[in-house]
Amino acid sequence: MFSREKARKKMEDWRILCSTLMIIMMVIEGGEAQLSENFYSSSCPRLERIVQQAVKKKHDQTFVTAPATLRLFFHDCLVLGCDASVMIFSPNGDAEKDSDDDLSLAGDGFDTVIKAKQAVEANCPGVVSCADILALAAREAVVLTGGPSFSVELGRRDGLRSKKSDVTKHLPEPDHKFNELLNLFAKNGLNQTDLVALSGAHTIGAAHCSKFSKRIYNYSQFSPIDPTLDPLYALQLQQQCPPGVNPNIVAFLDPLSSNTFDNTYYKNLFVGRGLLTSDQELFTNLASRPTVIDFANNPGNFNAAFVTAMRKLGRVGVKTGNQGEIRRNCAAFNS
Ligand code: HEM
Ligand SMILES: *[C@@H]1O[C@H](CO)[C@@H](O)[C@H](O)[C@H]1NC(C)=O
Ligand SMILES: *[C@@H]1O[C@H](CO)[C@@H](O)[C@H](O)[C@H]1NC(C)=O
Repeated sequence: MFSREKARKKMEDWRILCSTLMIIMMVIEGGEAQLSENFYSSSCPRLERIVQQAVKKKHDQTFVTAPATLRLFFHDCLVLGCDASVMIFSPNGDAEKDSDDDLSLAGDGFDTVIKAKQAVEANCPGVVSCADILALAAREAVVLTGGPSFSVELGRRDGLRSKKSDVTKHLPEPDHKFNELLNLFAKNGLNQTDLVALSGAHTIGAAHCSKFSKRIYNYSQFSPIDPTLDPLYALQLQQQCPPGVNPNIVAFLDPLSSNTFDNTYYKNLFVGRGLLTSDQELFTNLASRPTVIDFANNPGNFNAAFVTAMRKLGRVGVKTGNQGEIRRNCAAFNS
């Protein structure tokens, strides 16, 4: 009697499990699957540890790892969605990464993803997308430099297209004014708070002199130097970037703590020390200035807004279900 009760209960549990699985499978078939934090919990349970170790190893070798990987994620998501399309190598030089806007992406970001993918493939072959590995690696970049940790939604599929011509007008330019930045972010479901928070990624890394030389030499017919720049800072930048623009010289985006993910970036904006026009605009513009001041005074508010915005960025244009593919090699389509 007792054991029959038990057997019937088991049978019931089994039925509930089956119908749940059916629903899950139907959702996936329909291509309507959502990202989820535990997407690989049974197919690749050690995934996050593996990516974490691979990124840490690379970070110990070269500091460029963190800024390069974080920027790579942003550029991937804004062009055709977060689908690792930026990773594709084309022998004809006509892939996304060959565009003018992507040529300055540091090679160490690509290498980080390739190495993490190799480590993941050794454990769970053919299961985890390059797009997800890039999203996880970007999180590790933030954590390794002292920024906030956060859970990453997973389940992205890798894109089947990567064209240089797709990049045009999809990425922000360093000389963009506030409204251009706001509109471009809005097209990706990112609002003004997200714009200000994500720009805080410029708390690490560097920019080539060519990206801001106009601000220190050739601003306008009335003033050679951008008046929103602190004059002393402008002088320092002129010394760092002599006229004529050597394409190899870079300046730190946050010179006070370029290796640390903190809120110094916003304190710099306060005193006219945003390196790019797009940085300083966030303070110049009166609509976003209160957010800059808030993030400069409250690192906790910055961290929370950054995490929210990174998760939103990670959802932009994602392919799920049976869209796209799981690439074997992140730099090449499967066939
Ligand atoms: C708001 C509009 C943005 C503009 C106009 C912009 C533009 C730029 C430019 C021109 C550089 C210098 C590239 C070079 O000369 O090598 C740069 C670097 C960088 N950007 Fe942005 N960016 C923006 C937003 C973002 C966002 C949202 C992220 C990430 C969440 C990001 C992450 C980075 C990082 C980490 C670097 C340093 C890269 C390195 O050191 O290799 N940027 N950005
Ligand atoms: C932007 O969106 C976030 C939620 O994703 C919200 O908390 C924030 O208030 C929004 N900011 C603006 C300016 O609408
Ligand atoms: C300033 O701009 C002019 C005209 O575009 C250019 O010829 C000149 O080389 C620029 N100077 C510097 C220092 O970049």
